[in-house]
Amino acid sequence: MKVTIVGAGAVGASCADYIAIKNFASEVVIIDIKDNYAEGKAMDLMQTASLNGFDTKITGSTNDYSKTANSNIAVITSGIPRKPGMTREELIGINAGIVKSVTQSLIEHSPNVIIIVVSNPMDTMTYLVHKSTNLPKNRIIGMGGALDSARFKYRLAEALECPSSDVSGIVIGGHSDTGMIPLSRLASRNSIPVSKFLSDKKLSEVVEATKVGGATLTKMLGTSAWYAPGAAVSSMVQAIACDQKKMFPCSTLLDGEYGLDDIAIGVPCIIGKNGIEKVVELELNEAEKAKIQESAAAVRKTNGLLDV
Ligand code: LAC
Repeated sequence: MKVTIVGAGAVGASCADYIAIKNFASEVVIIDIKDNYAEGKAMDLMQTASLNGFDTKITGSTNDYSKTANSNIAVITSGIPRKPGMTREELIGINAGIVKSVTQSLIEHSPNVIIIVVSNPMDTMTYLVHKSTNLPKNRIIGMGGALDSARFKYRLAEALECPSSDVSGIVIGGHSDTGMIPLSRLASRNSIPVSKFLSDKKLSEVVEATKVGGATLTKMLGTSAWYAPGAAVSSMVQAIACDQKKMFPCSTLLDGEYGLDDIAIGVPCIIGKNGIEKVVELELNEAEKAKIQESAAAVRKTNGLLDV
């Protein structure tokens, strides 16, 4: 199993780190445009192999896509991250060009690759990968919902004063401060609806904190977060590599599901060796249906800025 990670920044490197620690991939290639940067990150990570006990071979390359040949999975993290006060949508001008050219180089050397898109604005970048290639839709996956759901579970666990492992919850919709839809109606602690333990006021505070999860960290760190994004991507890579048939909310090209089409937006998906193997259609209530339509309208507005 060969995995390419495009972008040796903090998200790309964390992703490589978690993939290696989980020890399921034979090879990880990190690629970056900055001279020797990916090579340095790869060397640093390889020096943890005897300490962390993994056999995954990690190598780095400065923009030589021949090194990525025959990758099974590629993760695109390249582009600029947001700075405090910026929305993910403001990154579109620079990131669209980068994501488009990276995708072409990847496919040239790995025609069967499954692509996971992390670069922001993520739903629009996922749509761009669809529009600029003729890859089947199961092989293009946007990472947002897995991260947003992890942040939702963190906030729920905090409010419930319990470990995150007790909590279950998903976030659908666009990966943006206003587009995320944490489904608190379906969230539970050990199968018991969280509404049994938390007041409506507390639950709406959890929802609001989840939606600005990325922005809160960007303000604190001065740049976009990396540990949870890296962990979310590595879990998705593992689900594909190990054919786990695990459910994650992912940005996927919809074709009538949720009353939407010609848009990539976060909905629950089953992830296995073929990438997105199934879109799970939830029975949403009227308020949730209205929210996903509103979220989709915002994603379409950003998609409209693309030159495709
Ligand atoms: C975040 C970035 C990865 O939410 O979009 O942290």
